[in-house]
Amino acid sequence: MDAPILSARELTRHYSVSRGLFKPAANVQALNGVSFELHAGKTLAVVGESGCGKSTLARALTLIEEPSSGSLQIAGQEVAGASRAERKQLRRDVQMVFQNPYASLNPRQKVGDQLAEPLVINTSLSRSERREKVQAMMQQVGLRPEHYQRYPHMFSGGQRQRIALARAMMLQPKVLVADEPTSALDVSIQAQVLNLFMDLQKTFNTGYVFISHNLSVVRHVADDVLVMYLGRPAEMGPSERIYERPLHPYTRALLSATPTIHPDPAKPKIKIVGELPNPLDPPAGCAFHKRCPYASERCLSEVPLLRPLDGRQVACHNAETIGA
Ligand SMILES: Nc1ncnc2c1ncn2[C@@H]1O[C@H](COP(=O)(O)OP(=O)(O)O)[C@@H](O)[C@H]1O
Ligand code: SF4
Ligand SMILES: [Mg+2]
Repeated sequence: MDAPILSARELTRHYSVSRGLFKPAANVQALNGVSFELHAGKTLAVVGESGCGKSTLARALTLIEEPSSGSLQIAGQEVAGASRAERKQLRRDVQMVFQNPYASLNPRQKVGDQLAEPLVINTSLSRSERREKVQAMMQQVGLRPEHYQRYPHMFSGGQRQRIALARAMMLQPKVLVADEPTSALDVSIQAQVLNLFMDLQKTFNTGYVFISHNLSVVRHVADDVLVMYLGRPAEMGPSERIYERPLHPYTRALLSATPTIHPDPAKPKIKIVGELPNPLDPPAGCAFHKRCPYASERCLSEVPLLRPLDGRQVACHNAETIGA
């Protein structure tokens, strides 16, 4: 297989958070030891509840924020040791689409000009060549030529996400990080936009890191899945393994949480009970233990590390029993 275009090793990001005037600042471990490899044309889906560190991971991968520790390689190049000029190139190689497309578009600039902007900054194409490229990309994302002259507010949410996607793809990045790109859209529009993402991936052979809080939404787009809980990887592996036989109780709970048309009586539903723990004061041992129906003595004190089991990696002391 080719070399990965994105390779993360033990990525970690802490934030220092003030707790008030007379208390020492606390440390939030927003991202804690995340590793994966992504290949061209493939999709890694990153899934977990709000607050589990998905956007923190997205910011680290797109070089918006430095990790506190760990390493990141883009197309084989280590980000930490890169020069300014190299960093600029690496930033081009990894583009991002945000949840709210309106926030990432300039309300006072015509859509066509916004799409042309990355070409103005990064290429020496003439005005007419740029216009041609923009028109071609607009067509690829299902926008009409007359949309060139319009402003973002004149578009629906789904169309705006098409514009944001077109903009991210203008320089044909190696990797696209999409942070919940469909969760703000009407359900009826979500599938269309998801299909568009997949069409563009096929055309450009882009690697995707596709973030969602909903495991079912990414089922048909993911080659690999990374399930996160409170900043740590809970389970990671090939999509078919994870969906057919999830081994981490949290993955099972996430899958049970989504309604299915044909519920399988052989697979009892696991409800996620209780609240997400306070990230400033995470529980000892397995961070999931207060909500886990399988928790044992060991789970209260010993942090489960990711380990290979049944064709994927899982961070659970009791995964064998659960999968049996
Ligand atoms: N800039 C920041 N300063 C302090 N804490 C942060 C910051 N960004 C994120 N966090 C905390 O890090 C954790 C992970 O957040 P985030 O990555 O946004 O999760 P998600 O995208 O999965 O909802 C949360 O507890 C959040 O409050
Ligand atoms: S390690 Fe223990 S508490 Fe954590 S998910 Fe596994 S069984 Fe549940
Ligand atoms: Mg987020």
